[in-house]
Amino acid sequence: MHMTLSTSRDLLFPIYRPFLDEQEKKYVDECLSSTWISSKGRFIPLFEKQFADYVGVEFATSVCNGTVALHLALMVLGIQPGDEVIVPTLTYIASINTIVQAGAKPVFVDSLESTWQMDPADITRKITARTKAIMAVHLYGQPCDMKAIVAICQKHSLLLIEDCAEAFGSYFDGKHVGTFGDIATFSFFGNKTITTGEGGMLTSKHANVHELAYRLKTQGVSPEKTYWHEIAGFNYRMTNICAAIGLAQLEKADKILAKKRQIAAWYNQHLNDLPLVTHQEAENTKNSYWMYSILLTQSQTRDHLGSFLLENGIETRPFFYPAHHMPMYIKEGKDLPVAENLSLRGMNLPSFPALSKQDVGQISQKIRDFFHS
Ligand SMILES: Cc1ncc(COP(=O)(O)O)c(C=O)c1O
Repeated sequence: MHMTLSTSRDLLFPIYRPFLDEQEKKYVDECLSSTWISSKGRFIPLFEKQFADYVGVEFATSVCNGTVALHLALMVLGIQPGDEVIVPTLTYIASINTIVQAGAKPVFVDSLESTWQMDPADITRKITARTKAIMAVHLYGQPCDMKAIVAICQKHSLLLIEDCAEAFGSYFDGKHVGTFGDIATFSFFGNKTITTGEGGMLTSKHANVHELAYRLKTQGVSPEKTYWHEIAGFNYRMTNICAAIGLAQLEKADKILAKKRQIAAWYNQHLNDLPLVTHQEAENTKNSYWMYSILLTQSQTRDHLGSFLLENGIETRPFFYPAHHMPMYIKEGKDLPVAENLSLRGMNLPSFPALSKQDVGQISQKIRDFFHS
């Protein structure tokens, strides 16, 4: 008998669940008992410093989510009306919305079939006299081809923003993503590899970028004069409570990342003889497998499999829709066939660190049942 699953609480396996323990509670309790619950307090600089060290950058400044991190990054780099920013169409909508909110024009590029990341050859084709920056989005944990993208930026004098929302713990050529461009952003939403509930981070190797980011996120306040504002900024600050959770998460980041790679290895073992493509790891990269994903042969198969798994208590997510298919961006992009096709066939599977070997076996068995029924 098929049951109807009305709420996520009915699910045996949700797509994600944050990995929290006593350390988060201890740090949050400290915020509450000390009353440092707003955007001042000891956890904020601690989290920022340890995050910068983990990623291998000089500077990190926390913000209240990954979307405002992107908006702030664009503002700091001086992106303005008339500018074009090259961005993959296959991404979460925040990457595109923030470009538009900065007054610039998103120029969509196609994806590579092999890695699902933005296609460097298509980037080159889309460069015009108005192109100011490239926003490289590392999707589902797999890094983009940063060697090619950095070379394009150097050749054409373009700024490089890395959207690392989905790629904490991902490496290209032994370097953490976010260390290649002028500025990088991270998200700590509840389904991210490390979370603060809602939260984000902006990182950079340039002191001036960092200083401007800090200033803009705090209402453009003057560093010399209290309540004196020389630039029109924002309130994009993170709270001490979020930073407390973030610090506790960072302390176990290696454990979380190791477990996610283990989960990916288990899925690969169970699924590799089925008619689907398993999540790949390109040469010279380390995939953090934020969302372990598969590619079915056809859109219909993907949708039927998703319904079948949901009936069995297993939540999945289809790949993002290409952004140029959204009503507000429909005029901006065409001829992006690889991204369109990946979007129709891709699916994320439950990928949270608490999954056991047996859990992954059980989910995989249901996928096998689907193909053998
Ligand atoms: C690629 C990408 N960029 C940006 C964001 C925005 O982050 P947030 O949800 O924290 O605003 C997300 C995540 O949700 C994302 O997946």
